Amino acid sequence: MRSWTFLGVLSLLLVESSAFKAHDFKTCSQSGFCRRGRALSARAKEARSSWKSPYSVDASSVAISSDQASFTAGVKSSLYPDITFGLEVRVHDDGVVRVRMDEIGGLKKHYDEAASWALIAEPNISRDIQWKTGKKEVRAVYGDKKDIEVLVEFAPLRVSLLRSGREQIVLNGQGLLHMEHFRNKAAAESKTEEPAAVEGEVANGAEEVQTVIKSENPRAWFEGDSEDAYWEETFSSWTDSKPKGPESLSIDINFPNHGTVYGIPQHATRLALPSTTGDSPTFSDPYRLWNSDVFEYLASSPVSLYGSIPVLHAHSTDTTVGIFDAVASETWIDIGHVSDKSTETHWISESGILDLFLMPGPTPEAIFKQYARLTGTPVLPAAWSLGYHQCRWNYVSSDDVRSVQKRFDEEDMPVDVFWLDIEYSEDHKYFMWNDKTFPDPVEMVNDVAAVGRKMVVIVDPHLKRTSEYPAYQEASKLEVLVKPPSGQGEYEGWCWSGSSSWTDFFNPAAWDWWKSLFKTYPLESGWSWTKSTDAVHIWNDMNEPSVFNGPEISMPRDNIHYGGWEHRDVHNINGMLFSNHTYQAVAERSDPRQRPFVLTRSFYAGSQRFGAMWTGDNLGTWEHMAVGIKMVLSNSIAGMSFAGSDVGGFFGNPEPEMLVRWYQVGAFAPFFRAHAHIDTKRREPYLLDEPYKGIVRDILRLRYTQLPVWYTAFRETTVTGLPILRPQYVMFPKDKNGFDIDDQYYIGSSGLLIKPVTTKDATEATVYIAEDQVSCFTVYYDYFTHHAYRGASKGKEITVPAALHQIPLFVRGGSILPTRERPRRSSTLMKHDPFTLRVALSKTGTAHGELYLDDGETYSHEKGQFIWRQFTAEKTAKKSKALRISSRDLATEKPSEAVDGVALTTFNPANEFAKSIEDIRVEKIVVVGLNGKPSSVRVEGGAELVWEYTPGHAASEKKEGVASLLSIKDPKVLVAKDWDIVVQY
Ligand code: NOJ
Repeated sequence: MRSWTFLGVLSLLLVESSAFKAHDFKTCSQSGFCRRGRALSARAKEARSSWKSPYSVDASSVAISSDQASFTAGVKSSLYPDITFGLEVRVHDDGVVRVRMDEIGGLKKHYDEAASWALIAEPNISRDIQWKTGKKEVRAVYGDKKDIEVLVEFAPLRVSLLRSGREQIVLNGQGLLHMEHFRNKAAAESKTEEPAAVEGEVANGAEEVQTVIKSENPRAWFEGDSEDAYWEETFSSWTDSKPKGPESLSIDINFPNHGTVYGIPQHATRLALPSTTGDSPTFSDPYRLWNSDVFEYLASSPVSLYGSIPVLHAHSTDTTVGIFDAVASETWIDIGHVSDKSTETHWISESGILDLFLMPGPTPEAIFKQYARLTGTPVLPAAWSLGYHQCRWNYVSSDDVRSVQKRFDEEDMPVDVFWLDIEYSEDHKYFMWNDKTFPDPVEMVNDVAAVGRKMVVIVDPHLKRTSEYPAYQEASKLEVLVKPPSGQGEYEGWCWSGSSSWTDFFNPAAWDWWKSLFKTYPLESGWSWTKSTDAVHIWNDMNEPSVFNGPEISMPRDNIHYGGWEHRDVHNINGMLFSNHTYQAVAERSDPRQRPFVLTRSFYAGSQRFGAMWTGDNLGTWEHMAVGIKMVLSNSIAGMSFAGSDVGGFFGNPEPEMLVRWYQVGAFAPFFRAHAHIDTKRREPYLLDEPYKGIVRDILRLRYTQLPVWYTAFRETTVTGLPILRPQYVMFPKDKNGFDIDDQYYIGSSGLLIKPVTTKDATEATVYIAEDQVSCFTVYYDYFTHHAYRGASKGKEITVPAALHQIPLFVRGGSILPTRERPRRSSTLMKHDPFTLRVALSKTGTAHGELYLDDGETYSHEKGQFIWRQFTAEKTAKKSKALRISSRDLATEKPSEAVDGVALTTFNPANEFAKSIEDIRVEKIVVVGLNGKPSSVRVEGGAELVWEYTPGHAASEKKEGVASLLSIKDPKVLVAKDWDIVVQY
């Protein structure tokens, strides 16, 4: 099966033989700079009010640029009077404040390029700001209502963002700011002559006992009084040479008026982040951001996982604010909930500059927009990629793939994509097929593509070091491989392919070359993937990067990248650059360009621009099923909307009940893929016995009927940055009861509310219906039974049936959902299917919804080739007993909006795409919750339509019960045209 050298097999066994190995990964106390950072905060806590930050603004250096665009000043630390730091504060035109601080004229340079990889462009600076300089501070007031203020106090340095006089975000309020300056070793050694320190011990967290400096030497308060891990650091059997010496950065960021914080994915924990400090912290270690391949990760832990997005939301019933910390090195974040109204956080990074973006909100929606303006919105995916993906490690031959496809078809189970894991390749030389098992790859892909399906094939970043691998040979010749600490030659490590090297995607010389590999036609310039087709898309795995014989299963920190930067400086961005360039390569391999699909395991702020992510190697347990939902929500609010978890759990053999529940979870994730480890039993859904098989078939079909809803939600996120999955606090920011809820969520603006069941033997589920100050008694209809549940002004829990075949899925009254209800084998085969409109009336008898549609594959939507419709239902007049259901062109109504960044000002509703679907009908309209039997239903000015009405029982404006149902069969209207249907009742 695998072709492996002895060492390779050994490391595989080591990696795979047992559960999570805590000893593979550092705790804070095993990481020198984190130890120093935490000791600093422990010391500050001990000293309480006598603690004072040594950092202050040199008032004589304050400068406001002539266009008022920014405020700059020199900053000194009283501990190191010879060292100067430069502080710059700018306000962007959307109110975001950027705070940068770097050492000036240092012996070396701190890495300052993290933001340039994350941001889509240099943000526009506000021209409306007037900085006011005083003797002790500088301030600027701004915003439409002039209610936002940024204040920089000089001594000690303290930066705060206020709204209506209330502090929203405070930097260095606790005095934990410390930027280690560059020094040279000899000078540093002489420092040991300074006042001697006394060491004592205090408990730090629940399990670690850490040394905290009790010293009269204030420098030691900050950096320890021995050169602890300054110039070299060992962990397990690895030694990190630290050629630049200490260069870490610590800062406290506090939210004095916000009791709940969310974000900083990826961690397996709750969405509302539990504390790591204080009297009874949930976790004893800080949250860690250091992209890592963690084997059998725990379902509740602050341990870092495959991706890192240093974005945090702080939320209260009044306002929401956010932070984006543009740092790419290892970062630890302590969170302390001081009260339910206030949160303290402490960020400790190994290297880089201070480059913080303060997002003023004041609502979650505003934060999403502010963050999207910085790092971009998710890209509009190919429509087929929202279908169901079938993966396993591995489908072992081209005939295996064909027979899996055949079985799906025989069982009438829709699927869009078949995946190939690493064993398709010869000796794990990606792109190169194993000729024995995959003798006819192009024919195989064509067989899959015959019904519009695609294949996704894995391409990992490790390049097997052999003369028989053109990709490695070419990269080596171009000298674009990551270098060892010496800066000479090629770094060599071990991964699936045995002895391997890694392309340095920070090197621009690698970019065009990488693209060339994906061309499906021969190139004169070098090797290309001629045994591939445009139906093959890509899975980027192991891009943390995972290195089996490296420190913490990754690359040594002192490896060298382009520009001479060490791996420690850029580690968390590394995975994003791989998927970025793969994404571009797949987009550009064909002419005209086709939308690529690239799945990545590792990611950073901005990765949303390059495709989807998944939560890595989860376990087939109920705990992992549940935490996967929270992780996907956390990624979603940090920009990474196209997310999902392996359905079934990667490890283990889930029993049928668990597998069914997992399909119910997956069908309501933006990315819906089943995947399994090589050692697991086959578990394709057609292998299940009844009733499980039938239930999963229904779930798959349900996903396909709702694809228009998902695609419409994706359009919205490409424009606004609002996540596709919206947790309770995003939907109802003022409802405190919802702040901790992370096991139910809404899908886009559709009005769908889902509460996946993640417990064994469940027959019921509890769903929270939000406090609704605008309209109490808000109605939610069970998607399947139309049972009407009513909210209450203070929020309310309802208990709903949830036996194995039942999914707690609701439509909020006031929504219209476009669906396609004809079962097909793949989404492409649905392209010309008619639509059903599900109209769920609100308490007041109104509803609205949207449908966005384009060809789903090319970029023609950027040239206006799409339809964007609005459906409404409302009474024809205030007290009338007539309901008008209408369809209108939304793009013409909202010319200021855009699709994929392209403004709609020149949109033509009669575009070529619209013409290509002009015959597509609405085949059915279902109206739920009408208050009386109709006397007539007709297209305005037309003949009576065929309809059926089932009265509701027990459901009234305030009561619960099954709602009435009006079903209009063949309403004789087209989906892309304007129309009105009038229901007289
Ligand atoms: C690790 C990935 O997380 C997993 O999904 C994949 O199957 C294996 N690598 C083998 O490629």
